[in-house]
Amino acid sequence: MKLKILKDSNPLMKKKSLPVTLPLSKKEQTLLDNMLAYIKKSQDIEYAEKHNLRPGVGLAAVQVGVLKRMFIIYYVKGDGTVVQYQMVNPKIVEYSSKKCALSAGEGCLSVDEEHPGIVHRNYKIKMVGYDALTKQDIEVIASGYDAIVLQHEYDHLDGILFYDRIDASNPFKQLENVEFV
Ligand code: NI
Repeated sequence: MKLKILKDSNPLMKKKSLPVTLPLSKKEQTLLDNMLAYIKKSQDIEYAEKHNLRPGVGLAAVQVGVLKRMFIIYYVKGDGTVVQYQMVNPKIVEYSSKKCALSAGEGCLSVDEEHPGIVHRNYKIKMVGYDALTKQDIEVIASGYDAIVLQHEYDHLDGILFYDRIDASNPFKQLENVEFV
């Protein structure tokens, strides 16, 4: 389960990932399984400290050097709900005009430096894609934090990093109609 996470200095991180041909190959499924296991482990405080891992909630294939349109997400919400996907060929088919942003700002396992500023996202989105975890096409309607995580990972597939969405001249410039979560 050793995965090497690429840093944003790697030119691959700015590239557009390519659509995946379904059904997934064994290698692709194994990669998704390893990515999910990695992120789960990163949230285990003891394990993460011992292995010097930063905690994450999502990981895109490009971050481990594979330019394919796939990412995984894993986190447990306050009410105990587990949010997890092995998303393949996702598409955002609907989004709200209302915006949202993480009040603490975003971070990324591929980005070591701090990039203070507001990362505006759509408050609500509808994403469709193939979920390799449940082996079916799914439609996810997400808002707030859930929508932010999905959009962050989706951006990786287009070579976009969270700080690309921060206003360079005025990082804390706030759009109208934005909810902080
Ligand atoms: Ni990221």
